[in-house]
Amino acid sequence: QNPSMSPAPPMGFNNWARFMCNLNETLFVKTADAMVSKGLLAAGYNHINLDDCWMLHNRSSKGELQWDPTLFPHGLPWLADYVHAKGFKLGIYENAGNMTCGGYPGSQDHEEQDAATFESWGIDYLKLDGCNMDLQNGRSYYEEFKYRYSKWHSILSTLKRPMTFSESAPAYFSPNFHLDANNTDWYRTMAWVRQTGELARHSDDIKVYSTLPNGTFESGGHWDSMMNNYGMQVRLARYQKCGFYNDPDFLIPDWLDLSLDEKRTHFALWAGFSAPLIISAYIPDLTDSEIEYLTNKDIIAVDQDALCEQATLVSQDGHFDVLTKNLANGDRLVMVLNRGNQTNNTVIPLERLGLDSGERYKAKDLWSGSSTTIRRGVVEISHLKSHATAILRISGAGRKGEKLAVTPTGMI
Ligand code: GLA
Ligand code: GLA
Repeated sequence: QNPSMSPAPPMGFNNWARFMCNLNETLFVKTADAMVSKGLLAAGYNHINLDDCWMLHNRSSKGELQWDPTLFPHGLPWLADYVHAKGFKLGIYENAGNMTCGGYPGSQDHEEQDAATFESWGIDYLKLDGCNMDLQNGRSYYEEFKYRYSKWHSILSTLKRPMTFSESAPAYFSPNFHLDANNTDWYRTMAWVRQTGELARHSDDIKVYSTLPNGTFESGGHWDSMMNNYGMQVRLARYQKCGFYNDPDFLIPDWLDLSLDEKRTHFALWAGFSAPLIISAYIPDLTDSEIEYLTNKDIIAVDQDALCEQATLVSQDGHFDVLTKNLANGDRLVMVLNRGNQTNNTVIPLERLGLDSGERYKAKDLWSGSSTTIRRGVVEISHLKSHATAILRISGAGRKGEKLAVTPTGMI
């Protein structure tokens, strides 16, 4: 794990959740162009990442991975040059086991060669998945993961070209599908991935955008998928540190079954977590209202905050989840998610947030940009719509330069 590599959580694009294996050069070129013209690059989204299915099913006679020339007629070094010239970094996908999840050649026992290949193509970021792990030398499943990811880490550390290392290992021990009473393997995997890489996918895939046999898009399920990954993320706050970020998977702004409030909630929660903000969507078609929330400067600043804290849960009463974290300038972030099905109001006593009820504070609503003075020792949340999230930045209004930071609460 190399803090200089990724001091703040990465922001950018990945094709997977929106396009899966339907990727090609045109998609990445159009995406890069649209990220520039729509202001996403300027807002900080500077990674363009390829996911699975970019390669041929066989290695070359020298054993090298090969891009599929039908999909990438100019080749990946050309694509790297294209995106680099615009100010992006290029990311790629490989797999620690012997075959990718999509059935393409994996890197198991080819680690040195594949790292050299990626370096020679100008790759800046590697997402390393964990499908099809072949157990070798008597190693258990858990040990094989640790061995393979550690091996990649040491190889990447020797490269001249720094590469962000996104590790999917914990996802393979997630309580979502790895039955293990106390989630021991999940937690012990989290404990070492933070030493060997910059990012850890820790749970299920965010639900993909799939087409049904009748040609319509699948509806439903994306809110639940997002809330599942949110719930997993909340359990892992203690592992995060500057240079290592828990990864609850992609932002999915062009889903048909998510309301604008739900999409904004997804963005706000991920930013409050200081999670990677990797958009999986058809960028050229994003609407103005989607671009507007995705480029909200105040919320992006919360994501990229120099303390790198993940917001933790303060309370959960069946209607409202309240989360908070400290910010580098001494302010406090407060997020209130309405999980219920109706517009609702709530009142959060300052003590519950670890703040002093006798003190005067200002709260800036990061959606509207307006500031109010907090009165009567409570944060009042009014008319919060179903599945919407209020996101407030609280600063001391009494003494100038006063620091509000306290130890975060609510670790699970
Ligand atoms: C796994 C990963 C996804 C995606 C696919 C590609 O499911 O978790 O994010 O990379 O593999 O096959
Ligand atoms: C040994 C251990 C593995 C892993 C590697 C790291 O092989 O058995 O679990 O820690 O070392 O190189």
